[in-house]
Amino acid sequence: MADAWDFKVELASAPATAEARTAVLTKPGFGQSFTDHMVLASWSLDRGWHDQRVTAYAPLRVSPAAAVLHYAQEIFEGLKAYRHEDGSVWAFRPEVNAARFTRSAQRLALPQVPEEAFIAALRALVTVDEVWVPPAGSGETSLYLRPYMIATEAALSVRPAHEVLFGVIASPAGPYFDTGPKPVSIWLSTSSIRATPGGTGAAKCGGNYAASLAALGEATANGCDQVIYLDAVERRWIEESGSMNVFFVYADGRIATPELSGSILAGVTRDSVLELAADLGHKVEERRISADEWRDGLRSGEITEAFASGTAAVITPIGRLAWSDGNLTIGDHAANHGVGPVTASIRAALLDLQYGRTADPRNWLTRL
Ligand code: COI
Repeated sequence: MADAWDFKVELASAPATAEARTAVLTKPGFGQSFTDHMVLASWSLDRGWHDQRVTAYAPLRVSPAAAVLHYAQEIFEGLKAYRHEDGSVWAFRPEVNAARFTRSAQRLALPQVPEEAFIAALRALVTVDEVWVPPAGSGETSLYLRPYMIATEAALSVRPAHEVLFGVIASPAGPYFDTGPKPVSIWLSTSSIRATPGGTGAAKCGGNYAASLAALGEATANGCDQVIYLDAVERRWIEESGSMNVFFVYADGRIATPELSGSILAGVTRDSVLELAADLGHKVEERRISADEWRDGLRSGEITEAFASGTAAVITPIGRLAWSDGNLTIGDHAANHGVGPVTASIRAALLDLQYGRTADPRNWLTRL
């Protein structure tokens, strides 16, 4: 029956052995190992959503003429499932990811997945693969959930596809950066921009990430871990770092992040940080911040810390800003592995909430 969103479960005939799973859960890395199952649901113009299922994790059979392979009609999301001390498993603000998935689908001319169906898909997968959610107390580990939607119709005309696949895969996750919670270095790209006004910058679509890879190569060649992009028009205002939003901490306790310009991704962690920082007594600002303000603030000592936020990256301190003819070190927090005190307190507030160690007054957690 179309659009019913009841997931039929077809269990994997050869799931990973307990030993293989334990080996992964002991040192999960990021996005390298996947659980035994995945969610799939098909959509066609004439039938709507149908064949919702949880099935064995396996390669997809997709036509070489599928629109996604040629025209990148694709979107995705990223969120995590956290194991609490009592063994229960929770997602953090999945309804916000669902809403963003809807906005991304609109922008990429893909069909909508209703919020309840999006959350039901996460729950269906986590229920079957619960043993893959890392145990409580195993550090900053979780089960990273990756919903996605691709245009599968074999048709080379440039138009919205009439056949689409929605899926969710899951991957046990440790810290995104090899540096762990230690600071990353950021390359200020002046040759590449990430997104333009009216473009797809606010959508979570693969094309944005593909387009960021050359600049990442430039960053790596210059000894940096990540790129930070400026706006497309004036090449002056800080946007985001490609897979993370950015925040600046001022000596007077203010915290600022670039306002959502239409070409910045509205991060779930970004939004949560704004609220948690206010709870911690910081004045928070969403506004335009220029690269010059950042550099001048670092030189004068007015900006004392900077950090990046994202589901994968959580809160990652930024320890160095580099550009074509200069670089500046950010903060000197040797006592805490280079993590500034404000960054550390916001990070702790977020993680304590996600892992159920503090109260959840805003009902941000959803049990899976
Ligand atoms: C996430 O934080 O979930 C992201 O989407 C970043 C990812 C591209 C690694």
